[in-house]
Amino acid sequence: MLLSMRQVLDEAAKGGYGVGAFNVNNLEQIQAIMEAARATKSPVIIQASRGARAYANDRFLYHIMIAATEIYPEIPTVLHLDHGNGFDTCKSAIDTGFTSVMMDGSLMPDGKTPSTFEYNVDVTRKVVEAAHAKGVTVEGEIGVLGGIEDGHGAGGTGLEHVTDPEQAAKFVEATGVDALAIAIGTSHGAYKFSRKPDGAVLKMDRLIEIHNRLPKVHLVMHGSSSVPQDLQDIINKYGGKLRPTWGVPVEEIQLGIRNGVRKINVDTDNRLAITGAIRKVFFETPEKFDPRDYMKPAREAMQKVVALRMTQFGQAGHAGDYAALPLAAMAERYAAQPVA
Ligand code: G3H
Ligand code: 13P
Ligand code: ZN
Repeated sequence: MLLSMRQVLDEAAKGGYGVGAFNVNNLEQIQAIMEAARATKSPVIIQASRGARAYANDRFLYHIMIAATEIYPEIPTVLHLDHGNGFDTCKSAIDTGFTSVMMDGSLMPDGKTPSTFEYNVDVTRKVVEAAHAKGVTVEGEIGVLGGIEDGHGAGGTGLEHVTDPEQAAKFVEATGVDALAIAIGTSHGAYKFSRKPDGAVLKMDRLIEIHNRLPKVHLVMHGSSSVPQDLQDIINKYGGKLRPTWGVPVEEIQLGIRNGVRKINVDTDNRLAITGAIRKVFFETPEKFDPRDYMKPAREAMQKVVALRMTQFGQAGHAGDYAALPLAAMAERYAAQPVA
């Protein structure tokens, strides 16, 4: 049985640890995460973006996830929609069987243009109503993700879109979200920072302020790949062309976890690990053409990264702490405490 993300995050808050949310698009990525979870005894959040759903098809994704729960019954496993861009996207995920959805109303439905606070509250609240009726968890976002160094890609100081703690408090109150993604200067992809980030570009002080203002809210860090040098080196050694770049240091994520961060989104590190492993096989043994010859090392490379993050985030060892509550029980719980 897939379980709600709310339950996993509540347990993480009790235990004082974070839970990695890893993006998937195919069978091998799901296998890599589940194997890492078994090896480290970790609860897991597996997430699919709109792009992943279009690439793999919901039915394939859902049934592979059900297979995962059959093969790894000891692992609490969540299926989460990453960056839903509107009510219909979230609703179709709920209808498919996702146990958690992100309504990213920080952006308009085009997924690019920053929205207004009113739009964000309105669309997120509607998703919360539909999701909670089925016991499904909702993550919202306030502030807009993006790098500070480059002025958020649009001129300015880059600080305009960093999350405001008062606005975050109003947003949580008005929407009833279960988890809150905040913007503190991280961005998606490999090119986050042009040097090791300091407090000018990675606003951990702001994260701590938000946590102090909302101590009971589960915070989510997006764009949290660490972009390790060794993974960059493997790609470049075998013919790749990555420019020098820095990600979010694991110690900063751990500081976040000590200050209310319960979900940490990681995709890029796994993409780097997979690509490096495949490049190596192609470079060293160009005569090979059986997909298993490169997909197996790719899957192993991803498993290694995921297991390391599970240990670093503190979720390792917690798979057996609790029994999964059915979504119907979560729905009853929400019905007993409606949003004001
Ligand atoms: O949101 C960012 C994740 O890395 C997913 O990326 O939209 O290319 O699937 P994607
Ligand atoms: P990365 O690109 O840093 O892995 O971030 C992934 C993410 O935030 C998915 O929502
Ligand atoms: Zn994200």
